[in-house]
Amino acid sequence: MSTDRTSTRIVLASRPTGAPTAENFRTETAELPSLEDGQVLVRNSVVSVDPYMRGRMDDRPSYIPPFQVDEPLTGHAVGEVVESRSDALPVGTQVTHFAGWRDLAVLNAADARAVDTTSVPDAAYLGVLGMPGLTAWGGLTRTAEFREGDAVFVSGAAGAVGSMVGQLARLMGASRVIGSAGGPEKAAHLRELGFDAAIDYRAGDLPGQLAEAAPDGIDVYFDNVGGDHLEAAIGALNPHGRVAMCGAIAQYNATEPPAAPRNLAWVIGKRLTLRGLLAADFEAEKDAFVAQVAPWVADGSLRWEVTERHGIENAPQAFMDLLAGANTGKMVVRV
Ligand SMILES: NC(=O)c1ccc[n+]([C@@H]2O[C@H](COP(=O)([O-])OP(=O)(O)OC[C@H]3O[C@@H](n4cnc5c(N)ncnc54)[C@H](OP(=O)(O)O)[C@@H]3O)[C@@H](O)[C@H]2O)c1
Repeated sequence: MSTDRTSTRIVLASRPTGAPTAENFRTETAELPSLEDGQVLVRNSVVSVDPYMRGRMDDRPSYIPPFQVDEPLTGHAVGEVVESRSDALPVGTQVTHFAGWRDLAVLNAADARAVDTTSVPDAAYLGVLGMPGLTAWGGLTRTAEFREGDAVFVSGAAGAVGSMVGQLARLMGASRVIGSAGGPEKAAHLRELGFDAAIDYRAGDLPGQLAEAAPDGIDVYFDNVGGDHLEAAIGALNPHGRVAMCGAIAQYNATEPPAAPRNLAWVIGKRLTLRGLLAADFEAEKDAFVAQVAPWVADGSLRWEVTERHGIENAPQAFMDLLAGANTGKMVVRV
C-alpha cells in the first residue's frame, strides 16, 4: 500500500519467450523523491494497457526503446496533481502523462498535459480521445486516404482502435463497413455499433467470410492483426486499394515470424498501396482530430467502450488478457 512518499509500481522481472506470464512482472514499492522546482506529484486514477507494450518487453530495436529488466513499466495514464511546485499545474489539476503502471508518479510539469474530466470521463483520454482514437482517425483519413464511398474492412474491430475505425468510416460516408473480431459475441457487438457486416475470424475461412461480407470488394483495409487477415484483405481489395498497416497483433507473441501473406505479389497487379503508420505521426494534427471527433463523442454517434480492471497490481493480468482478446474497447486499469 502506498503512502504519500512511496509508490506501488509494476516492474519488468524478466523478458518473455512467447506469450507473457505473471513471472515476467513484479509489483514493488519505491520511495519517491521530494519535488524539485517545476515538478508535480500525480496520483494516477486510471492507467492504460496496450498491445505495443508486448514489443517493449523484448530487447530489440524499435520505434520506442525496450523496457529494462528490474525497471518500472511506463505507459499512458490519467491522474490528479496532489502536490505541486509548478504554477502551470496546481494541486487538483487532472493530467495525462506517460508514467503509468504505478499509483503515484513524480513528473516534470512539462511532461504532463491538463485535461477536463468533468465533461468527459478520465478513461476517454486513454481511448477515444487519446492515442488509440488519434491512431484510428489518422490511420483512416491520412494513411489510408479514406474517401466517401469507400468500402472499408478493419480487423481487431471490437478493440480500442478498430471500433473507432469502423464507426468513423461509417460517419464519414463509407459505402460499406466490415469488421472482424474473435467470437460470436464480439461480432454481434460490431453490428450494434453500426458495422454493415461482422466476421468472427475464429469460425475459420476468413477469405470466404470476407468475400461474402464484401461482395463488391473493399477499397480500404485497416490492419490491426497482420498474417492471415492481411492475406485475406489483399485478396478482397479492389484495384488501387489502400492498406493502413497499424498493427500485427497475431504475431506479437510469435517466436518465429509468420510466412503470410502468401499472396503479396497481388499488390503489383492490383496496384495496391500498403503504408505503415505510427500514432505519433498525427500528433501535430491533434486539434483537427478533436474538432472532428469530440462532437460525435458528445452526441453519442460515436460509441466507445472500456473494459476496466481494478488495482495497479492487476495491470499485468489485464495486459495478458488484452493480448488474449478479453477486452471489448479500451482495456484500462483503475488504480
Ligand atoms: N501504429 C500505431 O501507432 C498503433 C497505435 C495503437 C495501436 N496499434 C495497434 O493496433 C492494434 C489494436 O490496438 P488496440 O490498442 O486497439 O488493442 P485492442 O484491439 O483493444 O486489443 C487487442 C485485441 O487484439 C485481438 N487479438 C489478439 N490476438 C489476435 C490474433 N491472433 N488474431 C486476431 N486478433 C487478435 C483481440 O481481439 P479479438 O477478441 O478480436 O481477437 C484483442 O482484444 C494492435 O495491433 C496495436 O499494436 C498501433
